[in-house]
Amino acid sequence: MTAAAQRLLPILLILLATSLSQGFNHLTQRVLGGVKVCRTSSNDQTTRLLMSYDVENETKRQLYNIKNSSWKSNEWNWGYARGTGHDCASICRRRWSDKADRKKLVDALLNPEAYHSKHKSYEVPFEEVKLILGLLWQRAGRSHAFNEVLENMVDAKRYELDDEVLSALNFVTDVRDAFPDVALKKSHVDHMNAVAGEILHYHDHMVDRVEAFRIRRVCAGMVLEDMGFIENGI
Ligand SMILES: *[C@@H]1O[C@H](CO)[C@@H](O)[C@H](O)[C@H]1NC(C)=O
Ligand SMILES: *[C@@H]1O[C@H](CO)[C@@H](O)[C@H](O)[C@H]1NC(C)=O
Repeated sequence: MTAAAQRLLPILLILLATSLSQGFNHLTQRVLGGVKVCRTSSNDQTTRLLMSYDVENETKRQLYNIKNSSWKSNEWNWGYARGTGHDCASICRRRWSDKADRKKLVDALLNPEAYHSKHKSYEVPFEEVKLILGLLWQRAGRSHAFNEVLENMVDAKRYELDDEVLSALNFVTDVRDAFPDVALKKSHVDHMNAVAGEILHYHDHMVDRVEAFRIRRVCAGMVLEDMGFIENGI
């Protein structure tokens, strides 16, 4: 071995070890789902941080411990005075009657990494976030851009599939498309397009589920914020 090659060898070994460990992280992330190496980019700088949290409340459907609740249940009966939907809506209105709580929820949705780094095991179920959105969209009326998204939610065949990644991608796509109607600023629309684009650029098989759940939360938070959820409640 030449002297130059001897000097290069340790560097090559380090490069090899780094790429192997990145491959391993990627593998554990796919297998475990809850363990995740995520990228947060601030300006051009990319930081990797290891984050783990329990994804239970990204996929759990039952709400407020009420049997047969959730958008997918036959007893949900959205829009009627009898049904688990009606029962959950009353609880939901009470649960979010305080402005400070609403602000905390929106902040948590908009910044999932910061939230998870402090709260590893408490996450408002995404099904509840959908209920809040549903109540806001219902109040906004039929001519509203989100009416169609609400109808899909009521049908429960687009955001409630067995394939959780596809459900999240459908949700992100439809929310992104309707968002310009409620966005308070053009910059918010640009931000929504950029955030949704992070996963919608890829074929759904390439999307990591934790990443899909994270972006779904951010998109929901942006809608709640611009639709005045913090100020006006539901
Ligand atoms: C309601 O929930 C119970 C218990 O979980 C279940 O046995 C029943 O089939 C459900 N009813 C409907 C209409 O889904
Ligand atoms: C899931 O949501 C329930 C109900 O809000 C909460 O009590 C529980 O702590 C949450 N679990 C996780 C892992 O976030």
